Amino acid sequence: MKKWNLNSWKKLPAKHLPVYQDKEELDLVLSKIKKYPPLVFAGESRSLKKALSEVAEGKAFLLQGGDCAESFAEFHPDNIRDTFKVLLQMSLVLTASASVPVVKVGRIAGQFSKPRSAPTEIKDGKELPSYLGDNINGMEFTEKARIPDAKRLFRAYSQSASTLNLLRAFSQGGFADLRQVHLWNLGFIKDKTKGKYKEIEDKISDALAFMEACGINSDNNRRLRTVNFYTSHEALLLPFEESMTRVDSTTGEYHDTSAHFVWIGDRTRQPDGAHVEFCRGIKNPLGLKCGPTLNPDELVNLCNILNPDNEAGRLTLISRFGADNVEKYLPKLIRVIKKEGLKVIWSCDPMHGNTIKAATGFKTRTFESVLKEVKNFFAVSQAEGSYAGGLHIEMTGQDVTECTGGAQKISENDLSNRYRTHCDPRLNADQALELAFLISEEIKKNSKISNKIIQAAS
Ligand code: PEP
Ligand code: CO
Repeated sequence: MKKWNLNSWKKLPAKHLPVYQDKEELDLVLSKIKKYPPLVFAGESRSLKKALSEVAEGKAFLLQGGDCAESFAEFHPDNIRDTFKVLLQMSLVLTASASVPVVKVGRIAGQFSKPRSAPTEIKDGKELPSYLGDNINGMEFTEKARIPDAKRLFRAYSQSASTLNLLRAFSQGGFADLRQVHLWNLGFIKDKTKGKYKEIEDKISDALAFMEACGINSDNNRRLRTVNFYTSHEALLLPFEESMTRVDSTTGEYHDTSAHFVWIGDRTRQPDGAHVEFCRGIKNPLGLKCGPTLNPDELVNLCNILNPDNEAGRLTLISRFGADNVEKYLPKLIRVIKKEGLKVIWSCDPMHGNTIKAATGFKTRTFESVLKEVKNFFAVSQAEGSYAGGLHIEMTGQDVTECTGGAQKISENDLSNRYRTHCDPRLNADQALELAFLISEEIKKNSKISNKIIQAAS
């Protein structure tokens, strides 16, 4: 294996990196950020990797979700709280109805930079560089806003730090106490989903009352009072990721301290490219997006580069083929992974292969196609004898109208009502919760089939 160092990625071709006009300013900003405190600690990433190794072994489920792109404009404690609430609710649904422990990871506290399908955008005959995420340039359609500005990294760092601070307070400070499940509800959840969630709340209240009678409660049991919540983002903006990567004094290993988990996008996963090079040297758990153009040999090669020790929990493969393409592409990838004995988590991103343009001009996704991709993912996993271990979604706790369908029956004409995303359309709280119910059904179905196989074999 070739030698790795913090900036060995710089010698390799890098896609989707911005070109900063003022290089000196960029260097100055990065040199300052290098001295900033880490956002997360290496020990926390290690705990996540351990939790993910349980997922890789089929004993837990990974739930990863949040904004497509966080923004400066949407930075508000209520938004952070509501995204956190929905992820807690989803994980409660999965744990209570499918009896599976859930590893919770937010696309949050650093998910800013975006790879774009085109380098420029044309509006009313005017062409400007594309918006690349709030930590790079501005979304306003003006020449000035679209120039990459290194100083934006300070604001992104500070927003990530305070987001993480609030998330830590929520997860450890009592908000996630199981006695509070009814407070995680969001006002606008539709009756259909609300009713199903209420059943779970009642089940939990009964269980808590029983445990209380046995002398176990959230005052004397930390597990009932707190949750482990982790952060993640795409490791796209390598100069920033490099500046946040530090040597862990307890092990001498490099950790990217900008998040617990980082992933490589479908557009930057070239085995001889800069993003793969950077990520192979850091010890964080990693994700790799797998889209239709990834062939089996290339996948094996990438797994060997990114996880040379075949460590369970190190690598999560995030499939994103589009609802109608799962059967075409996923089986051959699963087969080669099994054949090579590679330890990975298979997670499903039912969003990025299902983006369409509505007649009204909005980028959207139908809830139906999202559900279909998840169902197909579970069906293929089951048929191939592989564990469907995770879900990766773009969602928000706000009552937005960005994806059509779901219990609220959002139509293409409704999209303009509350379309707030800075990049791709997100599921709203209601749609996300409905999805969690569907997944718990799939998990239950699969575990029944697996139990039958075990019984038949024994
Ligand atoms: C994303 O997750 O926001 C993204 C850009 O995904 P992908 O790399 O799968 O297209
Ligand atoms: Co996206």
